[in-house]
Amino acid sequence: MFLWGTATAAYQIEGAVSEDGRGVSIWDTFAHEPGRVRDGHTGDVACDHYHRWREDLELMTELGVNAYRFSIAWPRIQPDGTGAANSAGLDFYERLVDELLAADITPVPTLFHWDLPQALEDRGGWLNRDTSGCFAEYAGVVAERLADRVPMWITLNEPFVHMAFGYAMGVHAPGRALLLDALPVAHHQLLGHGLAVQALRAAGAGQVLITNNCTPVWPASGSKEDLAAADAYDTLHNRLFNDPILLGAYPDLSAYGAEVEVRDGDLATISAPLDGLGVNYYNPTRIAAPTADGLPFTDAGVTGYPTTAFGWPVVPDGLRELLTGLAHRYGAALPPVYVTENGCSQPDELTPAGVDDQERIAYLDGHIDAVRRARQEGVDVRGYFVWSLLDNFEWAEGYHQRFGLVHVDFDTQRRTPKASYHWLKRRLAERDDTFRR
Ligand code: FCB
Repeated sequence: MFLWGTATAAYQIEGAVSEDGRGVSIWDTFAHEPGRVRDGHTGDVACDHYHRWREDLELMTELGVNAYRFSIAWPRIQPDGTGAANSAGLDFYERLVDELLAADITPVPTLFHWDLPQALEDRGGWLNRDTSGCFAEYAGVVAERLADRVPMWITLNEPFVHMAFGYAMGVHAPGRALLLDALPVAHHQLLGHGLAVQALRAAGAGQVLITNNCTPVWPASGSKEDLAAADAYDTLHNRLFNDPILLGAYPDLSAYGAEVEVRDGDLATISAPLDGLGVNYYNPTRIAAPTADGLPFTDAGVTGYPTTAFGWPVVPDGLRELLTGLAHRYGAALPPVYVTENGCSQPDELTPAGVDDQERIAYLDGHIDAVRRARQEGVDVRGYFVWSLLDNFEWAEGYHQRFGLVHVDFDTQRRTPKASYHWLKRRLAERDDTFRR
């Protein structure tokens, strides 16, 4: 069965940050530091999904999706990142999972969508190798409660973005700006993934995936310098996270002066077979030779395409290019692929008639068609999840970027399905034959 879903993440929608024993995450800390998030927005309340989840589930049932990707907040399960489980935290996700199953919607939880317990950050966060072991312990605790019912698990969300934005550039929590010295964060997350796979399998979990953010990399020109820079970017964004998982080896990182301590056995742990690869796609990246010190490339910007409210280029065929490129690069080593996030922010306006988000409809239509074409070209794509069900807390942009199929009025918490929601609902009801397996 092809999975049609929507995706969300805990810190972006839940709110209720001090309820039922939840501990503090790095995003609570970061968002409350002046100047970190646009207009000082925080996830303290967000979409209040922690209290309104039944209404949100109803929206999904009405939409007609058969899967829901959400994330579990580690600080709700282990408030300090280690040790005994906080039962109330597990209860929340157990209720959600049970109600999803009752509604015939496959629950697809992600164990880590960037909200590391602050207590672990105080010990170095993902720069500290011990965090990998803590993550596996946490995965085991969640699986012990839910593995009998959850058919598909995702370990990490976008370890590249967490490393690059959180530890290299400092624009996301935990706000460290270490440039290439952030590279150990890649290895420790990947090791954490591998150890979590072991813990999930030991608890009898069904399918296990990781979600990587991937981008087709376009050199800005045919010059030797631009080609080398594009290769470096492809290595750091895509291959650094896909190669060790799928091939059991890191790409050559020696040119980047990176010191990453890889111990015996690490790569075997990281490359344990998976049941699928989750891929998040938003846009291609155009790369030129470096202009400043510190990084071996410059983002030259993709031009000549429409852009989203975020300014991201809209290139649906980039998704086909990405999927066929993965199949080409990894061949038989590529497991079934699931597009675990795709969507766009638009300048949505709520009027008495609703939200007429035609650009989002065009975006989704084009990208779903790109998945169809990749499948026709032989790529085993088995799912597509729209980012996102609801407008939500968009990290450093606060509530300024709206990605939802459903509009949220953050003053009243009123949900209003947009035109794109109604469009997708009709589309799913058509039961398109090209997506049968
Ligand atoms: C992805 C994140 C997700 C959301 C979208 C727009 O990188 O995984 O949480 O912010 O971007």
